[in-house]
Amino acid sequence: MQHLAALLPRVTLKQALIVGGATAPPLVGGAGVLAILLYLMAAGGTATPAPEQPIAFDHSVHAGDAAIPCEFCHRGVGTQAAATVPSVEQCMFCHSVVKTDSPQIQLLQAHWDTKTPVNWARVHRVPDHVRFVHAPHIQAGVACETCHGDVASMEEVKQVRSLAMGDCQGCHRENSASLDCATCHK
Ligand code: HEC
Ligand code: HEC
Ligand code: HEC
Ligand code: HEC
Ligand code: HEC
Repeated sequence: MQHLAALLPRVTLKQALIVGGATAPPLVGGAGVLAILLYLMAAGGTATPAPEQPIAFDHSVHAGDAAIPCEFCHRGVGTQAAATVPSVEQCMFCHSVVKTDSPQIQLLQAHWDTKTPVNWARVHRVPDHVRFVHAPHIQAGVACETCHGDVASMEEVKQVRSLAMGDCQGCHRENSASLDCATCHK
């Protein structure tokens, strides 16, 4: 992915959607999927650096190699505003037995023993005056990848798509979703 990103010219979402063709809605058509992939690959070259995390949690091991579904850990995503990040208890479902000799897992075990949550650093964050809700997006069939990139292959999650106002509005326009100020602003 990084190699491809380096080879591809920088393209904007708008250009990528033009490449994908105006005939198919970007979220459902094969050409649209290609357009979004092109956009994400191009955007990958300029991704915001990943913040440092208190425990070296690796999505490529869990969501990639072990193929644990995103929703197993991010339980709120299909029904509420926040996707939510799993509690230590959810990690211990496996790590009370998996890889207990690892120093990183011993760090996790210490949180479990002392009943203290892990303070994960936020990667994506809209400003306080903005209302973002996951559920309607997931219910409308927008894939995690469309907004977050190929997280299942990331060792550290970084933001790969702007998700600023123009970006939100652009996708809403393409999908006949609401453009009312009050939809996204409190
Ligand atoms: C085993 C549990 C687990 C699985 C499975 C998992 N995640 Fe995560 N995810 C986490 C944890 C823990 C964090 C917080 C640490 C971090 O950012 O890496 C996180 C963080 C994230 C973030 C960044 C949140 C922020 O702060 O902005 C995104 C986006 C994300 N996950 C998407 C996904 C997607 C998409 C999948 C499926 C392909 C997935 N996750 C699968 C546990 C999981
Ligand atoms: C469904 C089972 C499962 C869950 C739930 C799970 N993990 Fe894992 N985890 C694994 C597997 C499998 C590995 C790879 C073990 C190996 O390399 O042999 C792993 C590896 C790791 C490693 C790397 C350890 C090392 O030193 O190689 C860390 C750190 C880790 N997990 C943290 C977490 C955290 C934090 C959570 C909760 C957010 C979590 N895991 C939830 C199964 C799970
Ligand atoms: C339409 C774009 C979009 C889609 C699709 C999307 N997200 Fe997000 N995600 C965001 C935005 C924007 C934020 C920041 C929200 C905020 O600051 O309140 C975010 C934040 C997160 C967070 C951290 C904060 C939280 O909500 O707990 C996680 C974890 C996450 N997303 C996981 C996922 C997973 C897993 C999927 C797919 C099942 C997914 N997202 C689909 C845009 C999206
Ligand atoms: C990739 C496309 C895409 C992106 C990017 C996107 N959205 Fe959406 N959004 C949708 C779709 C599709 C719906 C569902 C429309 C429906 O169900 O009628 C939706 C619905 C919503 C809703 C619920 C509307 C309602 O009527 O309840 C809110 C709020 C929202 N989006 C906010 C945002 C914000 C804020 C951002 C940027 C941070 C964003 N969206 C980015 C496609 C997107
Ligand atoms: C689809 C979602 C969406 C809609 C619709 C939307 N906004 Fe926004 N808006 C955002 C997001 C996300 C941000 C924060 C990121 C940014 O500044 O681009 C934002 C930021 C802003 C800001 C702050 C800019 C700054 O520089 O701090 C203003 C002002 C604003 N919006 C006004 C409006 C008005 C007026 C409308 C209606 C015409 C509107 N927005 C419609 C998503 C939306």
